[in-house]
Amino acid sequence: MWDNPATQRNIAQIESDNVTVLNPDKGFLAEGYTAKGRMIEPEDIVERISEKFSFSDELAGKNVLVTAGGTQEAIDPVRYISNASSGKMGYAVANAAVSAGANVTLVTTKDNLPLDSRINRVMVKSSSEMQKAVEQYFNNLDVLVMAAAVSDYRPEKIAEQKIKKTGSYLDLHLVKTNDILFELSKHKKNQFMVGFAAETQNLMENAQNKLNKKKLDMLCANDVSNKSIGFNSDNNQISFIDKSGVFKKTDVESKTSVAREIIKAISERI
Ligand code: CTP
Repeated sequence: MWDNPATQRNIAQIESDNVTVLNPDKGFLAEGYTAKGRMIEPEDIVERISEKFSFSDELAGKNVLVTAGGTQEAIDPVRYISNASSGKMGYAVANAAVSAGANVTLVTTKDNLPLDSRINRVMVKSSSEMQKAVEQYFNNLDVLVMAAAVSDYRPEKIAEQKIKKTGSYLDLHLVKTNDILFELSKHKKNQFMVGFAAETQNLMENAQNKLNKKKLDMLCANDVSNKSIGFNSDNNQISFIDKSGVFKKTDVESKTSVAREIIKAISERI
């Protein structure tokens, strides 16, 4: 029953609503076979609950800003370039940060995910709007987590009117957007800066380069070519990297659970 896709869909829904699920243990079941489905031991339930509540003051009083979702770069009044980012990871980090006692601002392109009502949500569309919003808060931040998938290029000009279908080809001239983290790194004081590296190849090498170039304190690297943990998935698997290299790799877990590990790693370093 536990492995049934319908059960798993329902569990994923509950987890994305920010509810902690304690998965059952594997063992011999009343049905006469061995599978996942046994109630976990009461001691384990107590331990997991106390873990959850002792977590709640790890970032007490800290100002945390999280970004989430893919930016949208307008082509004309009705079209844009974007990417497949769902925003789920950023939302999960924002929810986990507020549960850990932080004052949280979420700068995001997505408004369709559950969010703790204590979080200050700032809606943006393009990378330049996201940059302006983050800059506004940056000086007073203790922690910045850039989980957003920021477009690297944008159309050079936004057509004032909807572009008509005239020829067989349409050339779009794209120019680089500002690298938000790189620009902020020039003004960095005590802010603990966390980036994400979503890669489809050479994961570790690219992650190390990003850490150095953007002067990050921590990078969360994941392999988006793996469909079970990709952009729109409810699960993720992160390798945590700092100056000393990889210091932790999570299992494939719900984004809610990965977010808690991210907050724990941050709180141990600030
Ligand atoms: N990022 C940013 N501004 C950009 C692009 C990315 O701040 N214009 C941030 C992302 O939010 C992420 C980190 O930089 O935390 C790495 O983003 P990623 O897209 O993986 O890397 P890029 O630096 O854009 O390099 P590339 O796309 O070539 O891998």
